[in-house]
Amino acid sequence: MEITIDQIIATVKEASSRMVRSGFEVHDKGSRENLVTSSDLAVQDFLTERLSALLPGSGFLCEEEDLNDFEGHAFVWVIDPIDGTANYARANENCAISVALLREGQAYMGVVYSPWRGECYWAVKGGGAFCNGVPIHVSDRPYEDGLLYTAMSTYHKEWARSCHDIIFDIYLDCNDVRRTGSAAVELCLLASGYADLYFELRLMPWDYAAAALILCEAGGSICSFDGAFPSLTVPSLVVAANRPESCRRILSVVHRHLKQLPYA
Ligand code: IPD
Ligand code: CA
Ligand code: CA
Repeated sequence: MEITIDQIIATVKEASSRMVRSGFEVHDKGSRENLVTSSDLAVQDFLTERLSALLPGSGFLCEEEDLNDFEGHAFVWVIDPIDGTANYARANENCAISVALLREGQAYMGVVYSPWRGECYWAVKGGGAFCNGVPIHVSDRPYEDGLLYTAMSTYHKEWARSCHDIIFDIYLDCNDVRRTGSAAVELCLLASGYADLYFELRLMPWDYAAAALILCEAGGSICSFDGAFPSLTVPSLVVAANRPESCRRILSVVHRHLKQLPYA
């Protein structure tokens, strides 16, 4: 069965009507930083129902409610119903729905839609990357002029010191540091040339599956601790940049501080 990126975009945009500025419930998921709202659940339920109807037999790997049914499926949806939930809970615009479609384990299509920023990013493997229908491309800035998007391991503060040391060393050699609170949005901003460097110690596949494809299709580079493309099924360290040499340079800073990952 054939599916088009337009069908995915339309479904994601329809799902976004479940994102509202107020009136949702907020709960924590074991720590006061890690939140889930009733909107996360409503968006995910809508997407799983509609996308499985669009592509019968497809599998799912989704953030909420441990939805983890990807083994043995040729097509798998990797979904973060709201990336940047802490922002969403405060009606901060920096949040997005992230939907990736994997084909035989590889990122094939990706949509990151941030309704309050008014930005819909998308890519199909081999077809370039777009924001609101306009082609996007990474910057060509050198590392020394780069803006770094990053985070301090919010849900695992026991690793914050390592993040701090890595970020500090990158910061000394680049232009400056930024943080929006949505990895998907940040990687798409990197894909658009609004920033140039990226590091996060541990992300889940749903945080970056769609944005990684968008970034690569926009000419950028992304890798994990071992220098390979980050896993699309298990947590990963994520380094990304406009240029491959900047990606390698961030990774060398990471390796200076970490001989191995602090998680499996
Ligand atoms: C989080 C955001 C944040 C990143 C965290 C993610 P969530 O996702 O992407 O920017 O720093 O690592 O977990 O929990 O808001 O979906
Ligand atoms: Ca997320
Ligand atoms: Ca989320």
